[in-house]
Amino acid sequence: MKKKITTNPLWGGRFTGAATKSVQDYTSSIDVDKRLYKEDIAGSLAYALGLKEAKIISAKDYSKISKGLKSILKEIESGKFQWDKSLEDVHMNIESALIKKAGNSAKKLHTGRSRNDQISTDLRLHLDSVIKNILNLINQAQLSIAEKAKVHSEDIMPGFTHMQIAQPVTLGHHLLSWFEMLERDFSRFSETKERMSVMPLGSAALAGSRFRVDREKLAKRLDFNSTSNNSMDAVSDRDFVIEFTANSSILGIHLSRICEELVIWSSSQFNYVQLSDEFCTGSSIMPQKKNPDVAELIRGGSSKTIASLMGLLSLMKNQPLSYNRDMQEDKEFIFSASDYCTSSLELFSHMISDMIVNTERMKADCNMGQITATDLADYLVERDMPFRKAHEVVGKIVKHAESKNLQIFELPINELQKFTKVISNDVKNYLDPHEAIKARNLKGGTAPSQVKKQVTRALKLIKNRK
Ligand code: ARG
Repeated sequence: MKKKITTNPLWGGRFTGAATKSVQDYTSSIDVDKRLYKEDIAGSLAYALGLKEAKIISAKDYSKISKGLKSILKEIESGKFQWDKSLEDVHMNIESALIKKAGNSAKKLHTGRSRNDQISTDLRLHLDSVIKNILNLINQAQLSIAEKAKVHSEDIMPGFTHMQIAQPVTLGHHLLSWFEMLERDFSRFSETKERMSVMPLGSAALAGSRFRVDREKLAKRLDFNSTSNNSMDAVSDRDFVIEFTANSSILGIHLSRICEELVIWSSSQFNYVQLSDEFCTGSSIMPQKKNPDVAELIRGGSSKTIASLMGLLSLMKNQPLSYNRDMQEDKEFIFSASDYCTSSLELFSHMISDMIVNTERMKADCNMGQITATDLADYLVERDMPFRKAHEVVGKIVKHAESKNLQIFELPINELQKFTKVISNDVKNYLDPHEAIKARNLKGGTAPSQVKKQVTRALKLIKNRK
């Protein structure tokens, strides 16, 4: 009598027993990687067509496979598909379902293909669409910033170093510094998207395939720029996911730093901005509280991108070539980073657009911190005093003003002249924060005219990308 074997139907041939339930649970990744179903099916559809064109499977096989895959896609999207943990992953779940629908034809789909080149293909396709979305969202965030900067290109506020008042700047200028941070993120993600557009299919398990599928055609069909040059590298390379999470981490720390500023600016002590109620929550005990929770969570959540990057680096660092099952662990890191980027960017853009700025408060803070001390030193330099000497003279003036609890611009001219005869009435222009700003009229400077130029450039950049 034939003994009934209960091994996995897809690779049970060499097994005499099934994995125990606990081993199945331990090795299964379906709860996480089922998110890749769309890319898995797209890859299989294209691969099946490649097999047909190479006359490895018949037209009839192909038609059964493609019909089957399309109906599986519908089942998954309508929530009817039954995911089976004992089938390990997204690839095997879909392939088993296909076999139920298309029988022997379906059993030919995996000819010359391995889950090793399949997963790398799925991930690349997935990240391609994730990055497209992230790029759009970055663009959107940049638009919100540039539009705010346009409104506030002339409004002044203190610029800070070491969290201390340093020099006056325009709010538009400060906002556009956020724009620049995101612009570098945009270019990093775009470059990664190009670099990872290499199709692994045809690499099979590790050594390549004997079945002569036209890889170039297949790559074009799946919208890849090129095909991999080395099958061993193709199945073991996860640089692209590391790069993706590295980019996400840098974006994450950018968003975090900006949100840190929003948290500070929205505090009662600063009162520079008011975040819309939508992005804040109250306290369960203190009735007066309005907390900037979204900004805080964007700041806090960025740690997940860094954790993902660290996780992937440590996941990959000891793996010998080529594929190892360890790599299955990459998905949670990838999804955690991508979910953070997409959900945070979306809220971030709205938060910036809806933010109300208290320009009067910002302006008022330019009347403290001896904010134009550097301008006074510049004034002396323009009248031929060496900069180091000017620095010392102004230092003494600041000390004097502080001893009287005054700002330099509040000191009468004759008192200033006690420190150096170089000073005359025209110094007033240098001590006024508005004038100080106007004078910084070099490219990249804070003068309103420069900021306006940069706003125009920024808006054009965004528009040209759409
Ligand atoms: N689920 C696996 C992963 O994510 C797919 C590849 C499995 N390959 C294998 N030979 N077990 O990496």
